[in-house]
Amino acid sequence: MKQTFFLTTPIYYVNGAPHIGHAYTSICADVLARFKRLDGHDVFFLTGTDEHGQKVEKAAHDAGVDPQTFTDRISADFRAMTDAMGVSYDDWIRTTEERHKRSTQELWRRIAASGNIYLGHYEGWYAVRDEAFYDETELTTRPDGTKVAPSGAPVEWVREPSYFFKLSAFQDKLLELYESQPDFVAPTSRRNEVMSFVRGGLLDLSISRTTFNWGIPVPDAPGHVMYVWLDALNNYVTACGFPDDTAPRWHYWPADVHFVGKDIIRFHAVYWPAFLMAAGLPLPRRVSSHGWWVVEGEKMSKSLGNVIEPRKLVETYGLDQIRYFLLREKPFGTDGSMSHPAIVSRINVELANDLGNLAQRSLSLIARNCGGLLPAHGEPAEPDLVLLAAADALLPAVRGHMDRQTFHEALEEIWKVIRAANAYIDHQAPWALNKTDKVRMAAVLRVLADTIRTVATLLQPFMPGSMARMLDQLGVPDDLRGFDGLATRLPAETVLPPPQGVFPRYVEPAA
Ligand code: MSP
Repeated sequence: MKQTFFLTTPIYYVNGAPHIGHAYTSICADVLARFKRLDGHDVFFLTGTDEHGQKVEKAAHDAGVDPQTFTDRISADFRAMTDAMGVSYDDWIRTTEERHKRSTQELWRRIAASGNIYLGHYEGWYAVRDEAFYDETELTTRPDGTKVAPSGAPVEWVREPSYFFKLSAFQDKLLELYESQPDFVAPTSRRNEVMSFVRGGLLDLSISRTTFNWGIPVPDAPGHVMYVWLDALNNYVTACGFPDDTAPRWHYWPADVHFVGKDIIRFHAVYWPAFLMAAGLPLPRRVSSHGWWVVEGEKMSKSLGNVIEPRKLVETYGLDQIRYFLLREKPFGTDGSMSHPAIVSRINVELANDLGNLAQRSLSLIARNCGGLLPAHGEPAEPDLVLLAAADALLPAVRGHMDRQTFHEALEEIWKVIRAANAYIDHQAPWALNKTDKVRMAAVLRVLADTIRTVATLLQPFMPGSMARMLDQLGVPDDLRGFDGLATRLPAETVLPPPQGVFPRYVEPAA
């Protein structure tokens, strides 16, 4: 039986068009999903859209359409964008689906049965943009007198009857969770932030709203719809078939990793485990949070007109190029800036020069000097052994980085081997050996072919299309492209197709 691996993206608000920040979370999750599949796991990769709440209702109203029509349209657009990014999700969940309503009402009943829900009255601040309640002490006052949340979102005063969740009762249990499972919140800086928030004391959480009705009805409580974050977080459990514990996907719960942006860590690392504890359900293993992308140093915003549409980026630079850039340019956990020169430099230096040329040079020499047949292994010389050992050491090193979501370091490890292979080819000069020692030339080219194969195999999760083409050119059959396939050497004289460049240089279009 394969080991299961369940990972999720946040579900995206359907209040507007998707942008690069949304694509980023999904691509990071996709890289890990593909890695785990190639590493022999039974993967369940979930993504989808968050469709209830005041923010979406308002966006629908502003667009002059009813919320269901509106969410149908925007959810389909998010899905098309996700497909265009090569994201290999297994299920696309929408919170307006019947399965989710059933599951979330049952979650509510279980939490209620545990004695952790009571009826009261909420009076306080609410930010529709964040769909979050804020305490007065968290707000700042702008020069014009308006109050804003830490995220910069405007807040409004809300006063309504509401059900509350006894979050205050979970402080110790949550702290125990962070202590006993130090990897529960990552990276460490976020874990510290979450722990100090919880140590500061938790207020009970308002979990129903009565001033609008675009949400899941609270069972047996006319007029109340569920707070959109309770509804949204539960998507992860719905998709596993909750409450049917004989559902085909129930065995995937609990999630191995929830991918989230730093802005929504509190919901996932505090509220979500507390809801699950109350409902008596197992807790996720890890909430891994990433930093934000800004554009040329500026926050993306509609008013600045610098919001980046992921599909446009792909049209300009290519899909795998963008996937590579996003994972390589900044560490997962920190913020990073995106700019045209930065993207072009990654494409031209690392993809076109380092990797593309290495493969093209090696494969052209095999085509020209070895009749297009994969050479046999020769008597290994010291430099051959050094390079092959470095390539063999990659899988465990990269695996460790993937498990910690240090994607840029995984790529750096792989690039160390690519750079070493470039130094090796320059030093061994197989083009010169063609005139002096054909046996040694063949042996050198075989070392290069094996090294490039390992590199291309490990890069498949990051750049699936280009690496499939590279593995085609190296004559690697489909059934040997998983990581366990690396243990099987390809037979000498495997016929290789004529080499073709995989990564063209980016050239500025003529003005
Ligand atoms: N609907 C909630 C999530 C519910 S999960 C149970 C939500 N949606 S969102 O559409 O606003 O954001 C989804 C994700 O996109 C978040 O992880 C957020 O961090 C990410 N990003 C939005 N803008 C971003 C950048 N500029 N850069 C990187 N990621 C950012 O929150």
